[in-house]
Amino acid sequence: MTYSAVDVIATKRDGRLLANEAIAWILDAYVRGEVAEEQMSALLMAIYFNGLSDAELSTWTDCMIASGERLDLRGLSRPTVDKHSTGGVGDKISLILAPLVAACGAAVPQLSGRGLGHTGGTLDKLESIPGWRAFLSNEEIREQLDSIGAVICAAGQGLAPVDRKLYSLRDVTATVESIPLISSSIMSKKIAEGTHALVLDVKVGRGAFIKNVERARILAHTMVRLGTDHGVATVAQLTSMDAPLGRAVGNALEVTESVEVLRGNGPDDVRELSVELARVMLQLVDIHVDPAGKLDDGSAYEVYRTMIRAQGGDPDAALPVAVCTDKVIAEHDGVIQSIDALDVGVAAWRLGAGRERKEDSVSAAAGVVCLVREGEAISKGQPLFELHADDEAHLQRGRDAIARAVVVGERPVNAQPLLLERVTK
Ligand code: URA
Repeated sequence: MTYSAVDVIATKRDGRLLANEAIAWILDAYVRGEVAEEQMSALLMAIYFNGLSDAELSTWTDCMIASGERLDLRGLSRPTVDKHSTGGVGDKISLILAPLVAACGAAVPQLSGRGLGHTGGTLDKLESIPGWRAFLSNEEIREQLDSIGAVICAAGQGLAPVDRKLYSLRDVTATVESIPLISSSIMSKKIAEGTHALVLDVKVGRGAFIKNVERARILAHTMVRLGTDHGVATVAQLTSMDAPLGRAVGNALEVTESVEVLRGNGPDDVRELSVELARVMLQLVDIHVDPAGKLDDGSAYEVYRTMIRAQGGDPDAALPVAVCTDKVIAEHDGVIQSIDALDVGVAAWRLGAGRERKEDSVSAAAGVVCLVREGEAISKGQPLFELHADDEAHLQRGRDAIARAVVVGERPVNAQPLLLERVTK
């Protein structure tokens, strides 16, 4: 049967269901350049308003996966389990979790991306380690998973390649926020990666790309169903992203903080989330080991060092240090009511830690260290944030961006829970 792009668009525009063959045809024709950008834009907008049924979404995701290669991780000596975060400020959990879960006996294929805007990217953080290389062949990935149990590397261009084209188009057509489009984009890449099990860390709050719990819950349910239906045991954990995670926000600064946690120290919230996500990952692959013990006895840190070395990095090398630093000082006594993750993320970005466009480079040394936490009593003159930048111009941009990040008041503040709710099939 032949299809016309106009008919497919009209079907979705009018709220009717797309046939499996129509979905397969339009995605394939779009990759081949036979369906124009403006036609796919119209279809994306129709999906934004009218959604996709469960069956349509499943087919849409299948076709995205079929647009590229699928890694074959069968036959490894350990079960594979991965984690995906929808992105937050100070979210360095992947750096800790991959070696931690590997130290407990599973294999973690963390195929990661770079940061865009105010949220950081795992590869940008690890690239602050001298010599570390993000690009591995599929054979190297398999071999490292088998021998060490942990790989953090760039997701190959071959995984669900239609997603790159669709994502760029969504970015310029105000259709990024559609739940079926987000779910299929994330899950097509994770399913194509070949992991057997997956934990989704769905961030909610001021610094997350989803601000309210109801929407996060729907996204989590949709992704869990997609993963499970495709044979990947999937669980989602909703976690708060109102305040930055940990104290450090910025590439090398976050590597340093991750190493502290891997050595059994570091901020409580980073440790709590790492241990909790590790527990869920291990449950999914039926491994009964306490991850907290692997942080305290140094074995997770040993796996981290081996993983960094295997990818050319020197875990003992000094990390880049900022040329310019400054402190933001409290103007009066009080109690920290809130620290806005979005403001801190934007400040780190302005200081040079993030990029404006995909092709920009990032500063390894730039970023923010939060010297206080929500609920803490402070005195006038006390430093609240430390700003790091490569030059004075970036430092000034960071000062401007962070000006409203903290609210100081009189009343005591109860700590908000980090772990919100768990979503399973
Ligand atoms: N991350 C993705 O990979 N895709 C989206 O649509 C949103 C976040």
